[in-house]
Amino acid sequence: MARRTKNADAVVTGAGSGIGRAVAREIARRGGRVVVADVDDVGAKETVAAIEAAGGEALAVDCDVADLAQVQALHDTALDWLDRPPHLVVNNAGIGAGGKVVGEAPMSEWQRTLGINLWGVINGCHVFVPTLRAAGRGGIINVASAAGFTAAPRMAAYNVSKAGVVSLSETLAAELTGTGVAVTVLCPTFVKTNIFDGDLIDPGAAGLARRIAGIAGFSADRVARTTLDAHDKGRLYVVPQLDAQLLWRTKRLLPAPYTRAAGLLGRFVPDAEPTTPAHQTDQTDQTDQTGATR
Ligand SMILES: NC(=O)c1ccc[n+]([C@@H]2O[C@H](COP(=O)([O-])OP(=O)(O)OC[C@H]3O[C@@H](n4cnc5c(N)ncnc54)[C@H](O)[C@@H]3O)[C@@H](O)[C@H]2O)c1
Repeated sequence: MARRTKNADAVVTGAGSGIGRAVAREIARRGGRVVVADVDDVGAKETVAAIEAAGGEALAVDCDVADLAQVQALHDTALDWLDRPPHLVVNNAGIGAGGKVVGEAPMSEWQRTLGINLWGVINGCHVFVPTLRAAGRGGIINVASAAGFTAAPRMAAYNVSKAGVVSLSETLAAELTGTGVAVTVLCPTFVKTNIFDGDLIDPGAAGLARRIAGIAGFSADRVARTTLDAHDKGRLYVVPQLDAQLLWRTKRLLPAPYTRAAGLLGRFVPDAEPTTPAHQTDQTDQTDQTGATR
């Protein structure tokens, strides 16, 4: 079996923390050079320092994936530094969001979440796929989430963003069949990272998620190894945890009962702070839904 991730030069977005950092370090451990992209310059430099301390090579690049021009600049910097097309592009950057029901969650939450989690991955694919296709080798790993198919209540923007990433990855996999470029989409449930500290997750929901992740979550290192091994095997879907696999299969088999059960379980999520209905307060400009300039 050809090991795609051996000596694979890679670009990893959101590699300044969590899963992205773990993937970047694991790629370097397997012999590849890594372009470490993040909006968090400090985090990106820490990842680079960790890779270099272990004997690897990495470059930190400041990049907001929601901004197409910055992703294009990331592409050009990566090709320049690597002196060839990357073997692997990992569209991982993302933020958490949740706690409010549809109609209470402000449009700014929808726009920022979709801008980073979905448009960030669209931008990454739009910019890097032609280069990989022309090279006739390599792969793309998109980081979605089990949220992309579980449709848990009070997480609509996050769910929609991740469902979009799953669909984009499936489409890409079909389009790239026979080109030598492989596509993998990662769909974990809880992973022990900093994602629950984001400002778009209500404190109650964040506390619950942190507790569950602390008890049942996988480590980012474990998820990184599993994902790269699955990519080596040419797998499209990586659903690393048993709970996610069960939810996935149950929903496919019994979609309507699954949704009713999810609704009942959703009542146990701590209530968000009472809010005025979002449409009465949210003045966000709705003409640009891409988040590209935010
Ligand atoms: N942790 C989990 O339980 C979990 C579960 C399922 C999916 N995920 C997904 O995994 C991915 C990585 O998240 P994580 O858990 O490692 O979280 P994390 O917060 O530890 O890391 C996310 C990284 O993305 C960066 N980032 C955020 N916005 C960015 C932007 N606009 N441009 C570039 N970088 C940006 C952050 O600075 C951070 O370094 C996300 O897509 C997330 O949705 C996480």
